[in-house]
Formats: sequence, structure tokens, C-alpha cells
Amino acid sequence: MTTHHQPVAGHCPAHKQPQPPTGPIPIYGDAFTADPHATYRRLRARGPIVPVEISPSVYGYLAVTYRAAVYLLRNTPARFAKDPWHWEALQRGEVPVDSPARMMMQPRDNALWKDGPEHTRLRRAITGALARVDTHVLATTVARIADQLIDFFAADGQADLVTQYSDPLPMLTVFELFGCPQELGSRIVGAVTRVFDGGADSSQANTELEDACLELTHLKRYRPGRDVATYLIAAGLTDTEMVQTILLVIGAAAPPTSNHIGNGLRRVLTDPRFAGSVHDGVRPVADALDEVLWDNPPVPNYSPLYALGQQIFEGIHLEQGYPILVSFAAANSDPLLAVAPGARAGNRGHLAFSAGVHACPAPDLARVIAETALERALDRLPGLVLEVPEDELHNRPGTFLAGLTRLPVRFQPCTRIASYGR
Ligand code: HEM
Repeated sequence: MTTHHQPVAGHCPAHKQPQPPTGPIPIYGDAFTADPHATYRRLRARGPIVPVEISPSVYGYLAVTYRAAVYLLRNTPARFAKDPWHWEALQRGEVPVDSPARMMMQPRDNALWKDGPEHTRLRRAITGALARVDTHVLATTVARIADQLIDFFAADGQADLVTQYSDPLPMLTVFELFGCPQELGSRIVGAVTRVFDGGADSSQANTELEDACLELTHLKRYRPGRDVATYLIAAGLTDTEMVQTILLVIGAAAPPTSNHIGNGLRRVLTDPRFAGSVHDGVRPVADALDEVLWDNPPVPNYSPLYALGQQIFEGIHLEQGYPILVSFAAANSDPLLAVAPGARAGNRGHLAFSAGVHACPAPDLARVIAETALERALDRLPGLVLEVPEDELHNRPGTFLAGLTRLPVRFQPCTRIASYGR
């Protein structure tokens, strides 16, 4: 790849700016996790697209205004590429193997990391398959899964709605979308967990994960159903493309939707505008969820892009070879955006689902899953309240995903409604 400047090891793009700021601000660590918006304000004071340290010794830029975010996303792939082949530090082997940035930003053979016709082809297969999902059937499926999960703790009068509810629910839903048999689904969850743990056997777990997705593909080729896996096969994907696309959809769907449900439950339990009124049905949970997408999006920073040639935005030269992340969270809270906090319910101008050619293909499915999950929890658990003061709720550490570590709640013990064993 040709560039004007060859960035050197450990070098950050801040040093290439005409008037360099004092240094890249980290977008990881305790201070960032505790109050990311304080970091976004500091960054915005420096400019619309600012050098940052994404994770230890991994440098790039972060777009922190709405205008900058939309400019980058709308000019992909004409001026900015998604393909991490352009990430020079990665090509030179300078990104630590255990870096969280590497895990989330390295190339994989699926639509998320492709540009141009290859992206269009793979994405069309996904959008075509997801468009065939009947949202009424999906809502019924989610309600059933929600009831099964609630039945495990209904009689206890207390639960952690993150680990016992919002974490497992979207993954179980995605398996149903794929028509995945339960035993195969359990193997996939086990392998995904081990891959993300990053332990000594993570590469073995990755092989097992790919094997399980291949097994699902073979099963669906042999016995097609009315499910997303069958629709992807019908779109002409090869076995290898099927494995990578199944992994993409699982990874893109489950963690953000889990976080969104957890963040939404927190909102209805703590915000007096929703607490109470939601139980009465006066204000739909959809309003609470819309607000959360504005001010606490589950994917706060992502969509790493790479400048193609010399790119300048509002006077800022964007160095080639460095990832430029889009901060959906900072863009949504940009003070120049004239959407008053009170006018955010029902307003979908936020960037929580990104924009442009790589925008989330499933915002409607995500909404059905999250709304149904919130409604079932509120319907089934009488007197639902937080068990701890709100300031004892904490986000998981991380740059790319924003979700709670736990959400301890209390409610009147109630009966199980389904006949699944405990
Ligand atoms: C609240 C839940 C969700 C949020 C906030 C969310 C957000 C996003 C964002 C920000 C992107 C862009 C990522 C990037 O460009 O790097 C994305 C892409 C994607 N999402 Fe979602 N998502 C959600 C749920 C889902 C669900 C339920 C599915 C599938 C059933 C899904 C499938 C995908 C796929 C396949 C892509 C890649 C599209 C492409 O590269 O062309 N997402 N999502």
C-alpha cells in the first residue's frame, strides 16, 4: 500500500497533525468506562475527528460529532474503506494478539469487513434472509424464550436481569431464527464463550465454533426449513461463506441486543418518567428503548474505517493506515444536534444502528426482540424494583460495547407458567 507517511511502530496520528494536541486520549480503562461522555466532551473540544488510543498501544481516530460520523459513513466505500487490510500496524504485526481492539477489528471473511461488490453480494444475502423473518412469529418466539428464562427465577423473588435474562435471551432467539437444534446451539454458546474468554484453548474453541456452524449448514442443505440459515443457502452462499455469515449474524445480533435490553430495563426501573407509567401501559416501552438508543447506544464506538488516499475533513488531515472509529454515542450526544432530550422518544434520527452501506440490516428485528423482552419482564414480575441504589450499577469495561455488569432486582415471588424443568 502506498502512503505519504509510513507510520512507525507505536506512533500515533496525533503526532502527524499540523498542531498536535497534547496526546491521544484513551478510550478504554476505568475512567472511560465510568463516564464515557466526559471523554467524548474532552475529545469534542479538540475537534470533530480526533486521535485516540483505542486500546493499549493501538492508535487511531475517533469521530465525535454527528456531522463527522455521517460524513464518514456516507462516504464509505468511495473515500473510506472498511477492509482492515488498510490497517498498517496490523499488517506489520504491531497490534498485540491479545488486544481487545484486534479481537474486534481484525479482518474476517464476512460482509462486515468487505467493500464494494463483494460486500454488496454478501450483504444482499443477509438482508434478503432477514427480510423473510415474520416479525409476529419473532415476537411470539421471544415471548416464549422470555417466559422460559423468567420461569427459572420467578419463585425466588429476586434475580440478576443481566446474567439471567438480557444476556441469554438474544442468543437463544438468534438460534431459533437460524432453525438451530438445541444441542447444536448449546455447543455454539459454549464455544463462543471460550473464544471470548481468550484462554489457552481459544483457538481450539474457534475451530469447534466453525465446525458447529458448518454442521448447521449441512443440516439445512439436507433438510431446509423456514429459517434464516435456509434462506442464506438459497441466496447461493458457499459452505465457507455460510460459516462466516452465521458467525457474523450471531456476533452482530446477540451482544448489542443483550446490552440494549439491559440498558432499557435499567431505564424503566430508574427513570420516574417511565417507572410506573410503563406498568400502567400509559407509555410504551418502545419510548424508553428509543431514548436509550440516543443516550446509551449498545454499540457506542465501532465501524473502523480507513482513509483511501489523502482525506481532509473540516481542515483535519486523516492519516492513511490508521483506523478511524465512529463514536455513535458521541455523535448522538453532539450538542450541535438540535434534538432536545425530551423529544427523543419515537425519534429515530440517532446513529445507534449506524448509517450508510454497512448500517445495521436488522433494526426492526432488534426492536421487536428488545420490546418483547421488556414487556414480558414487566408483565411477569409484579412489583419489579431495583435491589440496589442506581449508583451501584456499572458498565462492563470496553470501548465497543456498552452494557451493564448486572441488574439486581426484587419482585413478588410468582408462579412459573411453563412446564420446563428447573
Ligand atoms: C439493539 C441491537 C443492535 C444494534 C444497536 C446494532 C448495531 C449495529 C451497528 C452499529 C452496526 C454497524 C457496524 C459496523 O459498521 O462496523 C451493525 C451492523 C450489523 N448488524 Fe446490527 N445491531 C443490533 C442488532 C442486530 C440484529 C438483531 C441483527 C441480526 C439479526 C444484526 C445484524 C447486523 C449485521 C449482519 C451487521 C453488518 C452489516 C454490514 O456490514 O453490512 N444487528 N449493527
